[in-house]
Amino acid sequence: MGSASFHHTPVLPSEVLAALSPQADGHYLDCTVGGGGHSRLILAAGGYLTAIDRDGTALAAAQETLAPWGDHVAFWQGNFAHFQPPPDTRYDGVLADLGVSSPQLDQPHRGFSFRDDGDLDMRMDRDQDFTAADVVNTYAEADLADVLFTYGEERYARRIAKAIGRSRPFSSTKDLADTITHAVPPAYRYGRIHPATRTFQALRIVVNQELDSLSEWLTRVPHWLKPHGVVVVISFHSLEDRLVKNAFRNDPRLEVVTKKPLTATPEEQQCNPRSRSAKLRVARYAATASSSAQVL
Ligand SMILES: C[S@@+](CC[C@H](N)C(=O)[O-])C[C@H]1O[C@@H](n2cnc3c(N)ncnc32)[C@H](O)[C@@H]1O
Repeated sequence: MGSASFHHTPVLPSEVLAALSPQADGHYLDCTVGGGGHSRLILAAGGYLTAIDRDGTALAAAQETLAPWGDHVAFWQGNFAHFQPPPDTRYDGVLADLGVSSPQLDQPHRGFSFRDDGDLDMRMDRDQDFTAADVVNTYAEADLADVLFTYGEERYARRIAKAIGRSRPFSSTKDLADTITHAVPPAYRYGRIHPATRTFQALRIVVNQELDSLSEWLTRVPHWLKPHGVVVVISFHSLEDRLVKNAFRNDPRLEVVTKKPLTATPEEQQCNPRSRSAKLRVARYAATASSSAQVL
């Protein structure tokens, strides 16, 4: 997939730039390069950038998009929780814009979306074996209900898990979404969000171990920052935001910059509906923190 068809509108662009304040001699780390939207803005403002994504298709598209910046940009494919900065490298700013990108959602064969029919896949990293079909078809009903309740905050978790148990195996996103739609009460079925939204979120989190990766990353990222370097995180649901808020608050190496998360303006929300649930938090590496010599 070429970069032209891999378009993702970056959320909270001016807030990200204001927080990172890129300098010509600065070095920045974009842990979730996706369509390269934020990375482009950072590079256009100046400096050097290392771009990470665990999705090989996204990274290939970002390599094309960011090619004009030549040797100002380097790439690394993998889970950001497992990244190791090169020896003696620290960053002036680190960004993570969590979750999935628009192109991932828009490609039915990736299986992230219930809007079109596709395989029940949902892997960001397609070298991984474990897919959403494995969760849906092999988990005990009670475990499936726990997953939907915990990671989807789905109040009809038990009903949905039961309906899935009765009708599996599933291989298609559409069949799963239809079963969920019929399992929930009519008021929920025709409510504000599609009744499969929370179930799909929960499956995606489990398949990609998103919260474990985020927790691990949050313990490591302060070691990657220069004194006064900033870490910027954009999250899209309360489970992620809670982890970020608590990690920033409780880590003695960090000073919280945003007491309350920044959110999109009404204008941005109008132009980019994805921004409606975005929350941006910023923390700064405390210059007095003693562990700056150690890179984890
Ligand atoms: C919301 S998109 C980022 C969009 C990007 N900021 C832009 O403006 O184009 C999130 C990206 O992060 C990647 N991703 C999510 N979790 C990851 C992880 N643990 N490690 C590396 N990449 C991850 C996804 O594959 C996806 O491409």
